[in-house]
Amino acid sequence: MNNSKLKFSFADRYTHEYSNKYYERHKKGILKKFSNILEQNMAAKALKMAGFPKSVLDLPCGAGRFFQTILNMGCERVVAGDSSPGMLQVIKDRFPPEILNKLELLELDLADINLPDKSVDSILCMRFMHHIHDPQHRLAIYKELQRVARDTVCISNWSEGNYKSYREHLYAKRKGIASRCLNPALLEKEFADAGFTIIGKVDMLPGILYWRTYVLKVS
Ligand SMILES: C[S@@+](CC[C@H](N)C(=O)[O-])C[C@H]1O[C@@H](n2cnc3c(N)ncnc32)[C@H](O)[C@@H]1O
Repeated sequence: MNNSKLKFSFADRYTHEYSNKYYERHKKGILKKFSNILEQNMAAKALKMAGFPKSVLDLPCGAGRFFQTILNMGCERVVAGDSSPGMLQVIKDRFPPEILNKLELLELDLADINLPDKSVDSILCMRFMHHIHDPQHRLAIYKELQRVARDTVCISNWSEGNYKSYREHLYAKRKGIASRCLNPALLEKEFADAGFTIIGKVDMLPGILYWRTYVLKVS
């Protein structure tokens, strides 16, 4: 597959206006704040399992939700990439110079990452893969992450086997669409097919929420 031709339609929603709302979204209301704390903890545990990487590519970085967590884990080089110019502008507008000075901000496409082979220790890929429904597209993305990461990839997705996935299955059935929660056995087979070895996995709230981050060793 020629990855440069892969285009994901959901990406069009991340205009400058939407990106500003996305920046605010995880700071508003007690439930969103609580869920953000759980997700930051999940990312921190994954980076710990990955061995506290010294250089991390946060892709897609969105509005920069994970920058502080990555820096808190002792990372010395943070490359922050996203395909949306709107998201990158929000980061430039909203973050203080002390943080911005520590980042390399780049417009990057996950399907065709404009970085050299093995250019970072680890890649943190949060809240992206649940948008990718075609297994061939997932494989193409995994291969691209393998190419750019020297050591590990930390990647989140929606996994079955919890209360939220049960609700998601019911919702999908009612709407007559495919559920976006994937069976862990399928997720893990696809990682193996792409050449990854699983180091570990972290659930955001075990048994309740569907968010799970896998820590993968690149081959
Ligand atoms: C749900 S947000 C997640 C952002 C961040 N990881 C977080 O959890 O806050 C999804 C992000 O994917 C970005 N995106 C969509 N398609 C992309 C692509 N092909 N390559 C890189 N980023 C993409 C969007 O611009 C958006 O910022």
